[in-house]
Amino acid sequence: MRCIEEDICCNRTKIFIGRNIIEVLREYIDGKALILRQRVIDPNRIVNILRDRNIYEVVLDGGERDKDISNVMNIVRILYEKGFQRRDHIVAVGGGTLTDVAGFVASIYLRGINLVNIPTTLLGMVDAAIGGKNGVNLGDMKNALGTFYQPSIIVSDLEFLDTLPDEEMVNGMAEVIKYAVVMDRELYTFLKKSYDRFFNRDYDVIEDIVYRSAIDKLSIVKQDPYELKGIRSVLNFGHTIGHAIEVSTKFSISHGKAVAIGMVCESMLGIELGVSPKDILEEVIHMLKLYRLPTNVKELGIDIDRDLALYAVTRDKKSRGAEILMPLPVELGKWDLFRVDIEFVKSVFIKCLG
Ligand SMILES: NC(=O)c1ccc[n+]([C@@H]2O[C@H](COP(=O)([O-])OP(=O)(O)OC[C@H]3O[C@@H](n4cnc5c(N)ncnc54)[C@H](O)[C@@H]3O)[C@@H](O)[C@H]2O)c1
Repeated sequence: MRCIEEDICCNRTKIFIGRNIIEVLREYIDGKALILRQRVIDPNRIVNILRDRNIYEVVLDGGERDKDISNVMNIVRILYEKGFQRRDHIVAVGGGTLTDVAGFVASIYLRGINLVNIPTTLLGMVDAAIGGKNGVNLGDMKNALGTFYQPSIIVSDLEFLDTLPDEEMVNGMAEVIKYAVVMDRELYTFLKKSYDRFFNRDYDVIEDIVYRSAIDKLSIVKQDPYELKGIRSVLNFGHTIGHAIEVSTKFSISHGKAVAIGMVCESMLGIELGVSPKDILEEVIHMLKLYRLPTNVKELGIDIDRDLALYAVTRDKKSRGAEILMPLPVELGKWDLFRVDIEFVKSVFIKCLG
């Protein structure tokens, strides 16, 4: 088992990574615990570990619909009725949608109750469960409500991935490739030679990927925990255009696929802007193909509402007047932040849509 410890603001976060390591939980949970679990996860895996603790359970279906604000209110009500105090725990067991809901609830209930994240998707292990950012949806407004709230413990037990379909594994790889392209050349080299072993579910390789990604994400989060200094923006590489693609397809494609195409278009943008090296586009496309991710919208096989896509670019959270703050690779594994004219972003996006 590998362990990473980091102080983020005034909180210590510990991440455990390995296979069959869930027992580690026992050391950290006393008092009451509310287990928030996605239905697909075998309840015995968690309940058996905590059977002699004072536990309650709430089950969510899995998927984006769980992030509706109404779920938050239901969970808060249960915490209140069962008399949960700040020293008690919420234990979140599921993918990124579930850890997002759990993080938001934990941050608002009594202004903060202990939070333990147990991500069960690759996306959760490499990204969503780490870093303290959460978000829930208000109607159609995705992540309209959210806070920054750090989990004290994250247990990434790779055994959960045994049941995760390949498509979801691939979805998580988009964020891993993002770290590699903009901040971690060593990871890039590792990924390039490891794709066969990844698809054969070689857990030594998967553990390295999860570990390396966690280190990369934490290294950014600890410098900019509240996303105030521009440093955390590096995590948004591929996401301006990726989000526009998600909006224009009414969120019918996975986040990973959208970010993959987003990284291709934003690499083109960096090259046209003259800040990214010419070969970066080839490298990004090559890596995405190795991990079976799409590199253009035609591969999605669905209609894109182009007007909506372009409109979504103008509504990007990182826009400042007529410009958008965009992290772009200045060489493989290195990035910088650029203010880019929105009209320029749109023109490259149109070209990229083909
Ligand atoms: N807070 C952050 O920093 C952050 C970062 C990235 C993404 N996110 C959020 O994460 C969400 C996407 O996360 P996700 O892709 O994990 O989605 P998800 O939680 O919906 O999980 C995807 C699917 O996998 C199923 N699943 C989960 N674990 C499984 C397992 N072990 N075996 C089999 N099936 C399993 C789920 O039930 C669901 O159907 C989005 O809402 C996104 O906004 C948040």
